[in-house]
Amino acid sequence: MPEHTEHQIARRKADHIRISLEENVDFPHLTTGLEHYHFQHTALPELNLDDIDTSLTLFGRKLRAPVLISSMTGGEVGGQRLNRTLAEAAQAAGIAMGLGSQRAAIQHEELANTFKVRDVAPDILLLANVGAVQLNYGFDTEHYRQAVEMAEADALILHFNALQEAVQPEGDINFAGLLAKVERLCKTIGVPVIAKEVGWGFSQKDAKQLADAGVAAIDVAGAGGTSWSQVESHRINIPYMAEAARTFADWGIPTAESIIQCKAGAPQLPLIASGGLRSGLDIAKCIALGAMMGGMAGPFLKAAARSVEETINVARRFEREIRVAMFMTGSANLTELQKTPLLRI
Ligand SMILES: Cc1cc2nc3c(=O)[nH]c(=O)nc-3n(C[C@H](O)[C@H](O)[C@H](O)COP(=O)(O)O)c2cc1C
Repeated sequence: MPEHTEHQIARRKADHIRISLEENVDFPHLTTGLEHYHFQHTALPELNLDDIDTSLTLFGRKLRAPVLISSMTGGEVGGQRLNRTLAEAAQAAGIAMGLGSQRAAIQHEELANTFKVRDVAPDILLLANVGAVQLNYGFDTEHYRQAVEMAEADALILHFNALQEAVQPEGDINFAGLLAKVERLCKTIGVPVIAKEVGWGFSQKDAKQLADAGVAAIDVAGAGGTSWSQVESHRINIPYMAEAARTFADWGIPTAESIIQCKAGAPQLPLIASGGLRSGLDIAKCIALGAMMGGMAGPFLKAAARSVEETINVARRFEREIRVAMFMTGSANLTELQKTPLLRI
């Protein structure tokens, strides 16, 4: 079993939230690549804006708009409040939500409350979250199932954060032999498993290997938004390790490129786009590149730190922007938006 204490994990999660809210943790230079893609404008949409259908169904849950609040928090007191704020907003806006890593709550049952949001969000697509690397540190299918059950989630996000672990002095750095364990987990857990990066993207080869291992969907979580090596560099108190983390501040596969690569590597799987998306127009572009929906962490975190109402308004803004992009490309539904060509400039 991993040797990190409840206190260490909770403090690390609280540090991540504080640093993400207070410091500039964007990639210094690298962007999502979405700025190179543009829709062809049509002056003749031949649609009523109000009739456009932005809904989709995934893992048995209907979403009003193709938007996911990406995994962020839980496992400490502030995290509980944030999760409940995010969940209330997701329920009101009809969007999906991912929980932050539940590892601490699997090891320390008393933290499970910080991930319980079903009472305020009975209808949302809710995704549990645990790191894949824990399969090499004593976790088996039962531990991952516990995460799904404590949250009453519809599916499990298995996050792959090799670079984040590699730059931390206390990181879990043994990623050897993980794929075979992921395959066993997918076969035995009984809910869909979504493979998710945390901001450096998956390659075509990664996507094919994950599809072959049996994952049900991929969240690309590409580069260009929140840079975890930047977040970690603010937290690490060993100067040479902090410097090494900063060296990788611009590492990763930009989100647009990762979507294209994952589509090629796993054409049959639903793709979630995330990593640096900052508007509904960004999400619309990702859908035209082959994704099914778009996720965001940073923008929802900032709104949730203020209020439920602000968080709902952020979701409403994204839904409106997706709807307008669909209108201006003559797309009556998300299937048509997926077929809309993008100009690369
Ligand atoms: C404060 C914070 C905490 C995060 N915690 C997790 C986590 O526990 N599990 C996970 O899979 N991703 C986690 N992430 C990564 C996000 O889900 C997302 O993949 C990444 O931040 C890129 O999205 P963004 O550019 O919209 O912020 C976290 C991100 C932030 C900002």
